[in-house]
Formats: sequence, C-alpha cells, structure tokens
Amino acid sequence: MAEAEKVLDALALSVTLDRALVGGAAYAATGHPLPPATLAKAKAADAILFGAVGDPRFDNVERHLRPEQAILGLRAELGLFANLRPAKMFAGLEDSSALRPEVASAIDLLIVRELNGDVYFGEKGTRTTPTGEREGYDIMAYSESEVRRIAHVAFRAAQGRQKRLCSVDKANVLETSQLWRDVVIEVAADYPDVTLTHMYVDNAAMQLVRNPGQFDVVVTGNLFGDILSDQASMCVGSIGLLASASLSEDTQGLYEPIHGSAPDIAGKGVANPLAMILSLAMLLRHSGGDEASAARIEAAVAKVLANGCRGADLGGTMGTAALGDAVVAVLNG
Ligand code: IPM
Ligand code: MG
Repeated sequence: MAEAEKVLDALALSVTLDRALVGGAAYAATGHPLPPATLAKAKAADAILFGAVGDPRFDNVERHLRPEQAILGLRAELGLFANLRPAKMFAGLEDSSALRPEVASAIDLLIVRELNGDVYFGEKGTRTTPTGEREGYDIMAYSESEVRRIAHVAFRAAQGRQKRLCSVDKANVLETSQLWRDVVIEVAADYPDVTLTHMYVDNAAMQLVRNPGQFDVVVTGNLFGDILSDQASMCVGSIGLLASASLSEDTQGLYEPIHGSAPDIAGKGVANPLAMILSLAMLLRHSGGDEASAARIEAAVAKVLANGCRGADLGGTMGTAALGDAVVAVLNG
C-alpha cells in the first residue's frame, strides 16, 4: 500500500486520501475486522484502495470475526457485485509463466467474477445429521436478477475488447448453473455483436493452462471466479501482478490486488507491490474517470518489468520499496 501511495503522490492528482484499519489489524485494535468507523469511511468514499486480508493468527477466531469477513463485508455492504480481474502477459515475463512462453505470451483475458452471491453469501452452517454426524453446508444460489446484472457487465466489457464472452458454469451438474446459463443466453440478445460461448468450469481450468489465448472475457460465479483468477495469475508469472476492481451499480468501487496478505513474507520488504500499484490504476480508470493517469501507471509498470526489474516472486532481488521507486522514477522520467 505504501508503494501505491508513492505512485499516487507522484501523479500529483487532486485526490484526498484517508486511511482506515481493516482485517486482522482492525480486529487486533478494535475487536472487529470491519469496524463501524472503517465501514463509514468506505461508504463515504468515491473509491477504496484495499490492501489484503488474512492472518493465520486469527484462523481460529469465530468466522464472523475473521479478517476475511472485512472484505466480504465491504463487498456486501457496498453492493460491489462485479469483480474485474484482468490477466495480461507483460512483455519480458514470458519465461516467468508456469506455462511454456509461446503459450503464455498470448494471454490477454478479463475474468468478470460475480461477487455478491453464490456459496459465499448463501445460508451456511454446521448441523447434525440423523445418524449423529456433524455436517457442514453452504448453499449455492443465484437469482436471475443477480445473473442478469453481472452478465450485462461482462457483455459490455466484451464490447470494449475482442467481443468474445465465455460464460463458465457447471450446468451439467448444478441447477444454479443451469439458471445462470439460461439467463446469460437471454441477456445475449441485447448484444448481437458479442460472440457468446459456454464452458464447464473443470474444462475452463484445463483450457486456461492448455490454451489461455483463446479467452477474451470470461464471466463466472463467485467461487469459480475466485479459483480461476488465482490460476490465471500463475499463467502470467506471479500472483503479485494481478489487480482487480470490484464495482457497484454506480461509480464507487473497491480496488485490490487479487493476492492475499502473504503472511509468510509479511514485514520482510519483499512483497511485489505491482498488483497494488495496478489496482490504483484501475481505481483511477473506473471510479476516477481518469483514463490518462491509469494508462500512465500501467505503462510505467510495463516499462519497469521490461527493464528487467524483478522481485523475489519473479526470481529477482528487488524489494518492495525499490520496485515502487522504479515505477515512480519512470513516471517522473
Ligand atoms: C479473493 C480472496 C477472497 C475471496 C478471500 C480473502 C475472502 O481470495 O479476493 O480472491 O475468496 O474472494
Ligand atoms: Mg481469491
């Protein structure tokens, strides 16, 4: 986050920055991962730049007080239903991909993940079966209005790109997915210029490593999108590179790297700040309406990578601050 703030400073925009604790830090300080004061600040903001949550020290606290509830709470409270997770190969990183360079170099896709429904927000709990066993359950459900609004976001995104949309579901097994598919097909009637295809999620996971270049925009539910976006990140070289935007019906949005808090390297100064910096770019684009600044940041990050700057996640030695400074140097150059 400190590196993203450096970049924001370097752009000298008229943005008022406020800070608030969230996740494990907020739990430690106030007893709640999403304190009312933080939620109030988030609600009042035009945009939220979010760090990352998750801390094994709190793995055993009650679920509703775990750090993850902070981000889930913000997504629910702010109605952030549309999660854009772009994955594009940066020139020079082809050899860092988990895939063969010639396969990886074709990656330029956008995952549109539904963020307010699915097993994440359905009824959940533990109960006792008639035979006395403990049983955990999380209900998967999507209403047609939920599917329709995310489908519109995805079709519009496809219109601005290669005009190909792949809807990923598990309609061969799940009723939720069958409804999802039916509704996406209905919405397609409004977008005759977009080519719609459907893919089962298991096949999509396979295709994403076999031939990721075939994808333009992928639309999928909350759980499938969570999994596929982590997978997409390794296809482009590192999870430390992928930014995301979580959008509501209006221009308010929350922007965060798709990675977690990486507790194993916390405080060592070696985390890759580029996903965070790229999240700031998405913030300026989607909530700030400032395409020029967004493009400047993205070009600076691409230049830094093309110049060979690498952190530990990409087999290099540059630390977090050095990478942030490199981006700022390009912006100032
Ligand atoms: C993500 C994360 C979150 C999710 C966690 C931290 C709750 O994995 O944003 O992808 O599952 O959505
Ligand atoms: Mg995830």
